[in-house]
Amino acid sequence: MRRIEIEKVLQQQPIDEEITVMGWVRAFRSNRFIALYDGSSFNTLQVVVDFEQQPEALLKKINFHACIKVTGKLVASQGAGQSVELLADTVELLGEANPEEYSLQPKKMTMEFLREKAHFRMRTNTFSAVFRIRHGLAFAVHQFFNDKGYYYLHTPIITGSDAEGAGEMFRVTTFEPNKAPLNDKGEVDFKKDFFGKATNLTVSGQLQGEIGALALGKIYTFGPTFRAENSNTSRHLAEFWMIEPEVAFYDIYDNMDLAEEFCKYLINYALKHYPDDIAFLDARLKEEEKNLPKDKKRLMGLLETLEFVVNNDFERITYTQAVHILRNSKPYKKGQFEFPVEWGTDLQAEHERFLVEKHFKKPVIVRDYPAAFKAFYMRLNEKSENVPGETVAAMDVLFPGVGELIGGSQREERLEVLVAKMEKMGVHPEELWWYLELRKFGGAPHAGFGMGFERMVQFVTGMGNIRDVIAFPRTPGNAEF
Ligand code: 4AD
Ligand code: MG
Repeated sequence: MRRIEIEKVLQQQPIDEEITVMGWVRAFRSNRFIALYDGSSFNTLQVVVDFEQQPEALLKKINFHACIKVTGKLVASQGAGQSVELLADTVELLGEANPEEYSLQPKKMTMEFLREKAHFRMRTNTFSAVFRIRHGLAFAVHQFFNDKGYYYLHTPIITGSDAEGAGEMFRVTTFEPNKAPLNDKGEVDFKKDFFGKATNLTVSGQLQGEIGALALGKIYTFGPTFRAENSNTSRHLAEFWMIEPEVAFYDIYDNMDLAEEFCKYLINYALKHYPDDIAFLDARLKEEEKNLPKDKKRLMGLLETLEFVVNNDFERITYTQAVHILRNSKPYKKGQFEFPVEWGTDLQAEHERFLVEKHFKKPVIVRDYPAAFKAFYMRLNEKSENVPGETVAAMDVLFPGVGELIGGSQREERLEVLVAKMEKMGVHPEELWWYLELRKFGGAPHAGFGMGFERMVQFVTGMGNIRDVIAFPRTPGNAEF
């Protein structure tokens, strides 16, 4: 008999023939009611067993997360909470889960504990909801760009360039540690390495994305990205997924419009396709925050936040305005910020949080940052009267809870300006010869941005730690599974 997925079963009318389902036991009440789950939907199917008809030994093995196969008749449910239930004729044990040995239990488990059980955690309500939504968002990324005529470009994972110029790279080499050949200067001779040069895992596909944009007009990338930054925070991973659109003839304003439309599209997609999962995560968050003091609670519930964001314009300000707001803020005046607020220094997470969560209470796009601490490829702005120093056409999209969700810019298309900037910032023009030739031959104004996919998943699911929205997190000191 063919197996039917639980999602389909739950949509069926009672039928007078036998069906088969398979799945994992979420709960077994009164030796009679099994909540069966197979991942196809948030909801479980209620399976009713007649314990007098089933062998005692089998019933004992219907434990939390054991896997079973059930054949029976689908009938109208007597109980509340579901319209149909399955009256079991035969129950077969596919995989037992001895509660004496199994590490998960049907009770509240901490996120930290579950992280160590990443091979089981997706079976829980919370994680299965998160990973269904993650899938939906990934699909929506492609849908959004495909519908707009963008081309999906696969940029390399192994590369010789440091797109961000920040030096936070994982080296890729086939040399054995301590056995690498040296050159006459006593340095490791990467000319003898696999690629004939020093290579690393990509920190961003942007530079190659620009090649695509200056040929195909508009492209996007969606791939894994690696950063060897030693940040042990709830928003940083050493391996994360990034979406990077790059568009010819776009300026920073077009770029901001695209970023805002993209964010809203993704959130709307999740709201439309995953209402049960979001409702569950919303309730979970409320429960989690129940005992927190008022100032530690979210302003709005998860669902309310998501609806608010799709229905309201993002705030748009310059970096110079942001500094002004921060210096006039209560926490600044009371000396509550840990880091200084001065024109010319980068905004820290605490400052971004203040702007988004306290001051504007909505997503904020900050643009026109000082050139000094932004990447070499960002376009230099015209001098402006009431701005103390040089700025670039950079933009960061800041979101409640997750902080910087998107970073992007208009790109420097003027060859001389770019070369001067690279030299000033210690980026070697000869290594990026091809990047410079894009300016020399058929150059065009263009812009793009990168969205940290996990941060978007965090926002939509309300998960507090980025390690809980990627199946197998890689962070300093951890590459298990
Ligand atoms: O701001 P970033 O470093 O920008 C770039 O890489 C540009 N090349 C993008 C572009 O213009 N095409 O990174 C972009 C986004 C950040 O806003 C953040 O959401 C995410 O990537 N991100 C991380 N997410 C998780 N863990 C990390 N360690 C991250 N670093 C950046
Ligand atoms: Mg950034």
